[in-house]
Amino acid sequence: MVSFAATSVSTKQDFLPLKGTDHVEFYVGNARQAAYFYRAAFGMSLAAYSGPETGRRDRTSYVVEQGKIRFVFTTSLRPGTPIAVHVARHGDGVRVIALEVDDAHAAWRETTARGGISVAEPAETEDEHGRVITASIATYGDTIHTFVERCGYNGAFLPGFRAEQPDTVARPTGLKHVDHMVGNVGWHAMNKWVDFYAKVMGFQLYQHFDDNDISTEYSALMSKVMANGNGFVKFPINEPAEGARKSQIEEYLDFYGGPGVQHIALATDDILATVSRMQKQGVEFLTIPHSYYTDLSKRVGQIDEPVEELERLGILVDRDDEGYMLQIFTRPVEDRPTLFYEIIQRKGSRSFGKGNFKALFEAIEREQALRGNL
Ligand code: FE2
Repeated sequence: MVSFAATSVSTKQDFLPLKGTDHVEFYVGNARQAAYFYRAAFGMSLAAYSGPETGRRDRTSYVVEQGKIRFVFTTSLRPGTPIAVHVARHGDGVRVIALEVDDAHAAWRETTARGGISVAEPAETEDEHGRVITASIATYGDTIHTFVERCGYNGAFLPGFRAEQPDTVARPTGLKHVDHMVGNVGWHAMNKWVDFYAKVMGFQLYQHFDDNDISTEYSALMSKVMANGNGFVKFPINEPAEGARKSQIEEYLDFYGGPGVQHIALATDDILATVSRMQKQGVEFLTIPHSYYTDLSKRVGQIDEPVEELERLGILVDRDDEGYMLQIFTRPVEDRPTLFYEIIQRKGSRSFGKGNFKALFEAIEREQALRGNL
């Protein structure tokens, strides 16, 4: 069953106040080309760069932005470095989920005092645009959280990065902000990581789904959504559940080489325009059978968007007692069947599309079968 946790504001002091997602850093095999894909297909603009030309000899990083979304693509310039080892094991994937805070020292102190494992102690960097303090702790797999305190910094990204010229490659698609980021963890590990977010980071259980909600003829998974005190940051955690065939979560774990970020949901105010644009620019989405749309109006009632348009683009709709939401999922954006994206538009609903799970997972399984992994 699905449950909504109480949403009343906690009277307890939030020991880890978060201002939102600062950036997401990916370790990739070729950062220049990865950044190009996100600029040309997702419509993000190249904002900043660091590498040998800026005095960083071991790696290059490209920062791309759209709305409040900021992605950083980093590659190792030499074999055998921690970045190169990460890429060799996982393929291209998310290394850092960075969260903006007012006090990075306090964020690191409070989380490590509660059992969080330190990856980097608070450190200050500085250039002519100001100073920034960062600190990092470990989360699932090889993924880390970095706390970023910007101290009024007014440079392009972080000290050591140079600002880039206005981007002539970027073709904006209307993406606004990160809605949620989902982690896949191993068998029976979901509750361990739910406890980590509750105890170490002060998050609360927001919604949960069991294998009765998320199962098809072939496979199943379980999911719990954790949210921080102000609800700006939401991290659903998935684990595989027993089914007749291999779960999509197991496929991910096999190909990623362990736990990691499964999908990033990006919000838009106009999903029809955003998805049309992205499709034209080469982003591939999961296809949904005609039968999904024949009884859509009966299921979700009156909506603003024409059903024929939703069907043409493959957009899913779900309603709860607060409103409705529209969502669509890309195919994996890399050769390994690991990371994919969700594009989401919320019209009142705070849900994650429970009514679409069956149609969605059947679409994923059709692709899994084509890869010979079901
Ligand atoms: Fe999602």
